[in-house]
Amino acid sequence: MSRSYRIAVLAGDGIGPEVMTEALRVLDAVEEKFGFTTTREAKNVGGAALDASGHPLPPDTVAACEQSDGILFGSVGGPKWETLPPDLQPERGALLPLRKHFGLFANLRPGVCLPSLTHASPVKNELIPNGFDVLCVRELTGGIYFGQPKGREERDGEVVAFDTMIYRKSEIERILRVAFTAAGGRGKRLVSVDKANVLASSVLWRETANEIAKEFPEIELSHLYVDNAAMQLVRRPDSFDVLVTENLFGDIMSDEMAMFSGSLGMLPSASLGQQKEGGLYFGMYEPSGGSAPDIAGKGIANPIAQILSAAMLLRFSLGEAEAAAAIEAAVAKTIDDGYRTGDIATGAASEKKVGTKEMADAILERL
Ligand code: IPM
Ligand code: MN
Repeated sequence: MSRSYRIAVLAGDGIGPEVMTEALRVLDAVEEKFGFTTTREAKNVGGAALDASGHPLPPDTVAACEQSDGILFGSVGGPKWETLPPDLQPERGALLPLRKHFGLFANLRPGVCLPSLTHASPVKNELIPNGFDVLCVRELTGGIYFGQPKGREERDGEVVAFDTMIYRKSEIERILRVAFTAAGGRGKRLVSVDKANVLASSVLWRETANEIAKEFPEIELSHLYVDNAAMQLVRRPDSFDVLVTENLFGDIMSDEMAMFSGSLGMLPSASLGQQKEGGLYFGMYEPSGGSAPDIAGKGIANPIAQILSAAMLLRFSLGEAEAAAAIEAAVAKTIDDGYRTGDIATGAASEKKVGTKEMADAILERL
C-alpha cells in the first residue's frame, strides 16, 4: 500500500516562488526514492494574495491548509505592500492568523553554523572553531503578541497604547514539554529564557519550567534572563544546545541566532500544533529568512532553507523521517563538496559558485 499525503503549498512573494520550485523538485525525488506520494495544493498568500484578491490570507488558502497534512510556506512581504495598514500587511496579516487558526504554538528555529561555513558568521571565527548548532524553541501563539487587552485610547488628554503579556500555565507547560523533548533528542541541555526579575509572567514561566523539568530528569535545565541570554549568545553561541522562551523574546533571540549562523538562506523552521496520536504534528514549515525582494527573480537565492523546511515537514507532519534524513544528508554533502550560493560564498578558488537551480541540482545528484 503506498503512502500518500496532502500538502498545502504557499510560495508567497519575493524569492518564495523560486526557492519553492526547487524544494518541490527535491520532494519529487524523495517520493520516488522512498515510495510515497504527495498531492500538492498551491495557493496564494501574502502580497501575491493581496494582488489577486485584496487579502493576504484568503479563505480558499485557509481551506486548502485545513485539508492538508501540513503547510509548506515560502515567504511573504515586499516594498509594494509596506504602506498598507498593519493587519493587511503580508507578514502580519498572513502569518499571525495562520499560527492562531491552526494553534501552531511551538516554533522550532534551528540556528546552525556548519564548521565549513564559519567564515559567513559575524561571530569571530576563533570563538566558533567547530561552528554551532542551537535550537530555539519559541512559544508562538501566546504572550504579548495576542494577549488582551491590547489597544489604544485617550487617557488624561493624551494617547496611550498598550499590550498585555499574559500566559496561562498550561500554555507554558506545553511549550516546555516540546523543548524538553527536543533537547532529549540532541545535547540534553535546555536553557529557559525569561525576565523573571521583572515580569510576573516570567516568574510563572520559571516556576513551571522547574516543575516540568521533573518529568525529564535526563535533561539539564538552566535559566537565563533574556538580556543576559542575548549577551551569552554573542559570546559563545556554541555553548548552547536548546533555548526555550516566550513569543516576543523568541522573536528577537531567534533573529540574533539566525544572524550568527551566517546565512538566513540555510535555516528552515517549523511551527507545530499539538502532537497528534501517532506522534505527528500538523505544522507549517518555512525558511527563517524573509522574502528578500532585493534578489528576487534573479535565480541567485539559496534554496537550502526551503529544501530543509520540506525535510522538516516530512519528519514532523508526514512521518517520513528517512526521506527527511536523506535530504539533510544530501544538503550537508553538497556544502562539503564546495557548492556555494552568493550568501555563503567567500570567493575561494575551491568553491563552486552556483545559483538557485544549480544548488538544487547538486543536492538532487547527492540524494
Ligand atoms: C517572525 C516574524 C513575525 C513575528 C512577524 C512578521 C509578525 O518576525 O516570524 O519572526 O514577529 O513573529
Ligand atoms: Mn521575527
